[in-house]
Amino acid sequence: MRGKLLLLLSLLCGAAAAPAAPIAFQDTMGQRTLACTSCHGREGRAGPDGYYPRLAGKPAGYLYNQLLNFRDGRRHYGLMAGLLAPLSDAYLYDIALHFASLDVPYPPPQRANVPPEVLARGERLATQGDAERRLPACASCHGKALAGVLPNTPGLLGLPRDYLNAQLGAWRTGQRRAVAPDCMAEIARRLSPEDLSAVTAWLSSEAVPANAHPVSLEAPAPARRKGRKAAAPAPAPEPPPMRCGAALPPVAGSTR
Ligand code: HEC
Ligand code: HEC
Repeated sequence: MRGKLLLLLSLLCGAAAAPAAPIAFQDTMGQRTLACTSCHGREGRAGPDGYYPRLAGKPAGYLYNQLLNFRDGRRHYGLMAGLLAPLSDAYLYDIALHFASLDVPYPPPQRANVPPEVLARGERLATQGDAERRLPACASCHGKALAGVLPNTPGLLGLPRDYLNAQLGAWRTGQRRAVAPDCMAEIARRLSPEDLSAVTAWLSSEAVPANAHPVSLEAPAPARRKGRKAAAPAPAPEPPPMRCGAALPPVAGSTR
């Protein structure tokens, strides 16, 4: 108990103005977030059982939005909400940047104990969607490699099936919400229970490709003219099939 309290204090002290008195530990974000990693695993690589999700390497905008969601009541987990309640937007964003920057290994994929045709259905939904159900491919937003798209869309590989089922189930029942328009709530409701189960079976049994990182969808900046003829501008990337809401990061330098 005392240990946990100290960890909590270290988190809160980081949020306030730097204390003048010398402190016993190195004041790094890794230290300040030990209270978090006591549940989320070393360096945020996930707890052992599919319940405490991975934080490491997820896009900062995504993590920031989740911290706001827990703090502001769009997602529910009392123990975490209590920790986050006193923290400012700017400090939450710093925490998000910290975990986003951690590049630590993923667990091996899980064995899918479903028939091959279920797995094939899951793969089709993830990579192609289902026009009949007006269901866009997961990959159209989560990235071709399903490794996430900056700034707000997380990757879908390397996550346990229990966690994926729990999140999609929570969206269907309204237990989990995102800033409006909440595209994932709509998608989760368009998935039949069988399709939901198929897609999570496939996702959790796919290995995370080496060097998987969230990608940027922004078109590359047009080549600068330097006397030479400018290259034709790159075609604009395809817009996502539905709009998804998200809070913008706080303005740098705002008060903590
Ligand atoms: C007592 C255990 C516990 C502690 C301490 C804790 N968390 Fe969590 N956290 C959870 C659980 C459980 C979930 C998943 C809840 C759910 O399924 O909605 C979660 C979810 C999250 C998510 C969403 C992840 C995602 O991919 O959507 C983020 C971000 C997060 N926690 C960050 C933190 C940070 C930062 C701290 C420290 C300030 C922290 N957590 C402390 C248990 C904890
Ligand atoms: C229109 C774009 C879009 C499509 C299509 C889409 N997603 Fe998402 N997804 C998002 C966004 C944006 C988020 C982050 C939501 C938030 O901030 O909570 C997200 C989050 C998630 C999460 C939460 C991950 C975590 O770590 O907690 C899961 C699970 C998920 N999506 C599964 C799926 C699956 C499965 C499909 C395909 C059936 C799919 N998504 C299709 C945009 C999309």
